[in-house]
Amino acid sequence: MTHPTTQQTSVPAVTPRTVALGVTGSVAAFKAVELARTLLQRGTRVLPVLTRSGARFVAPMTFTALCGERARVDMWDDTFPGELHIELAARADAVLVAPATADFLARIAQGRADDLLAALVLVARGPVLVAPAMHPRMWANPATQRNVRALQHDDRVRFVGPVVGPVANGEVGLGRMAEPSDIVSALDGLLSGRDLQGVRLVVTAGPTVEDLDPVRFLSNRSSGRMGFAIAARAAERGAQVKLITGPVVLPTPTGVERIDVRSALQMQSALHEAMGPGLSSADVLVMSAAVGDYRPSRLHEGKMKRSADALSIELLPNPDLLAGIGAQRASSRPLLVGFAVETGTDDEVVAYARGKLMRKRVDMVVANAASDGFGGETNRATIVEQDREEPLGQMSKLALADRILDRVRERLAAER
Ligand code: CTP
Repeated sequence: MTHPTTQQTSVPAVTPRTVALGVTGSVAAFKAVELARTLLQRGTRVLPVLTRSGARFVAPMTFTALCGERARVDMWDDTFPGELHIELAARADAVLVAPATADFLARIAQGRADDLLAALVLVARGPVLVAPAMHPRMWANPATQRNVRALQHDDRVRFVGPVVGPVANGEVGLGRMAEPSDIVSALDGLLSGRDLQGVRLVVTAGPTVEDLDPVRFLSNRSSGRMGFAIAARAAERGAQVKLITGPVVLPTPTGVERIDVRSALQMQSALHEAMGPGLSSADVLVMSAAVGDYRPSRLHEGKMKRSADALSIELLPNPDLLAGIGAQRASSRPLLVGFAVETGTDDEVVAYARGKLMRKRVDMVVANAASDGFGGETNRATIVEQDREEPLGQMSKLALADRILDRVRERLAAER
């Protein structure tokens, strides 16, 4: 058996495009400079537009010098003969607002045009990608969430992030701006077309939780980020996505149908429903959930009381959901993708993954070492298939999601 290996770069090339880069008043504005530089290096023309508060964080001159385009702040520019927002909209294939503050989201959710950037968003011809950045309490605030939901109903607007991480004052939570490389990936997705149009994809994510009593449970460290990244990118690439997730603290990606579950058995019934009779309702299943292998044999109705004695809890094995579907599948559809998080050397991790590929009768196993993947923002994985192995470098979960989906698309195309 041969295992051809392919090393891929984590940054795919984009065709030169023109992007208006909006910068609003958040400390994360300094990252917009790196973002502009990355886009320029890839041949994209960048038209910088700052709000007044954005211009207090980073000087417009920085963007003017870097982009070779005059950074614009003011709508009322005597030196410009026409209407600036109309002119910028005519030139820009997409508008990217990074960082986007809570106030900016509120303004565009209301369709206001009270400064140049808001007016540009209102009149933009192409997609508008926003990368929110704010304190986690501002993001979680019902007013902000209302605005986010309103924007999610606008077909032109897409979100990238926010992500969980340290924010300006050092507190950690959901509100940090997505990394520039992930923003560029998301922008690529928006501009590069919808290559998964019509594909019906089911993805599971997060941990499962097995209750012991009303206040205690068994679970694991899965954050759900990998599965959410796959769901987000698949939807952006045109797939019809159902996301079955255990309890996680992550926003639902735009355009994704989310089904919340708690235990492995609940995930099994949600999966059964989503896959349809004879697995006929899905073309692809990506099983990235960390399904608990055991559950307590009984759920205590009241809170278990402490005693001086040692306590044993009897655990029953949970069904292997992926293997169940592998055994049920009669043809090459749906395509089945599993994950294997393992401890050991790289060779051992790949060997375990190969074992899972056979045992669970699936088409692809994404293998990564436990130390690389769990909880963090990045992964270093190998895509293992029957006669192929593709080691991928260290990359963000969004970039890895794209590599997995690229391979899924190739396999679906090969079968047609
Ligand atoms: N999986 C599943 N149902 C389970 C356990 C795991 O569907 N009860 C799926 C996971 O979603 C993942 C793959 O199987 O796609 C591998 O999970 P992992 O926990 O690494 O493997 P296990 O089957 O538990 O094997 P082992 O204990 O040998 O690591």
